[in-house]
Amino acid sequence: MKLLITGSAGFIGMSTSMAFLKQNYTVIGIDNLNSFYDIRLKIDRNNELKKFKKYKFYNFDISKNDEKLKSIIKKHKIKIVLHLAAQANVRYSLKNPRAYIRNNIVGFYNIIEACRELKVEKFIFASSSSVYGKNYKVKNFFSENDKTDTPKNLYAATKKSNEVIAYAYSDLFNINTVGLRFFTVYGPWGRPDMAPFIFLKSILERKTIKIFNSGKMFRDFTYIDDVVNAIVKITQRRLTNKKNFYKILNIGRGKSENLMNFIKIMESTIDMKSKKKYLPLQMGDMVLTQANIKELKKFIKYTPRTELKVGLKKFCDWYIDYYKYNKKFSS
Ligand SMILES: NC(=O)c1ccc[n+]([C@@H]2O[C@H](COP(=O)([O-])OP(=O)(O)OC[C@H]3O[C@@H](n4cnc5c(N)ncnc54)[C@H](O)[C@@H]3O)[C@@H](O)[C@H]2O)c1
Repeated sequence: MKLLITGSAGFIGMSTSMAFLKQNYTVIGIDNLNSFYDIRLKIDRNNELKKFKKYKFYNFDISKNDEKLKSIIKKHKIKIVLHLAAQANVRYSLKNPRAYIRNNIVGFYNIIEACRELKVEKFIFASSSSVYGKNYKVKNFFSENDKTDTPKNLYAATKKSNEVIAYAYSDLFNINTVGLRFFTVYGPWGRPDMAPFIFLKSILERKTIKIFNSGKMFRDFTYIDDVVNAIVKITQRRLTNKKNFYKILNIGRGKSENLMNFIKIMESTIDMKSKKKYLPLQMGDMVLTQANIKELKKFIKYTPRTELKVGLKKFCDWYIDYYKYNKKFSS
């Protein structure tokens, strides 16, 4: 069995590729190893994947080279595409909007158009909990059928655009499609621009961490292995007899955690205290995200369950080992 994974050197892409390789799939990975964050980390993730003979890697930008994209799908006779490559991060979208249009709109168009032309049978792509935007004022739990037309930032707007473009392609051209709304994924090989990474680094280096909205922030933190299990099950599930199947799914734990509590658990995991600076809510940020995961449970009979304490321990252990931290001597 074989599939194409874009963003394979990314956080979720690497862990998902690894899971498929361990199940003896051939994984065709694409990533442009861009410098949005530490390239070394992306190269190291990719090197882990290269240990598998059945991993074939292509380094190029999907927003710039659609011919190459098509030739790869053709050459490897790809029938399943898992599209994870994107410009992520809410705050960065305020400063670099063009990167979102290029990677998340043009890049997305190139991949879905290639899927249409080359008759890919299953297209699974990453969306985001950020599409729920201003909904948190109305509801605590976000369900897939809730309104998602009030994004709070351009990143969310590009992800919502992906969902509607994918709907049109699925309906018109018979592509079985599933869009995955991820909720704050964390764990080993994570993203340096995300809170768990930033907090841990600062605590270990005895630097001050910035806490926005005076700590009144809530996130549905979801452990990477749970996310990967869900992706694998969705990919392997027979979708339907209909060819134009289309579904959006929340991929979360279904429980929200207050940021201050998250930091407390992290502090007790590494037995160190943080220094904090309290700041107002940042423009474009959501205060709360919490997934209703009934649909996910029904669809794949699986519930992400990893407790924060357990997931954070694995994340901290990985981080300290990867960056060779010696807690005693860091200053
Ligand atoms: N991690 C989360 O909590 C989270 C939450 C919601 C949504 N998502 C979405 O899930 C997907 C994966 O996220 P992640 O956390 O692994 O991010 P990531 O940044 O670690 O991975 C994305 C990868 O895609 C690559 N990439 C970006 N643009 C590309 C292009 N034009 N051509 C080729 N490669 C390109 C990057 O180099 C990177 O390695 C993204 O679509 C993201 O928006 C993630």
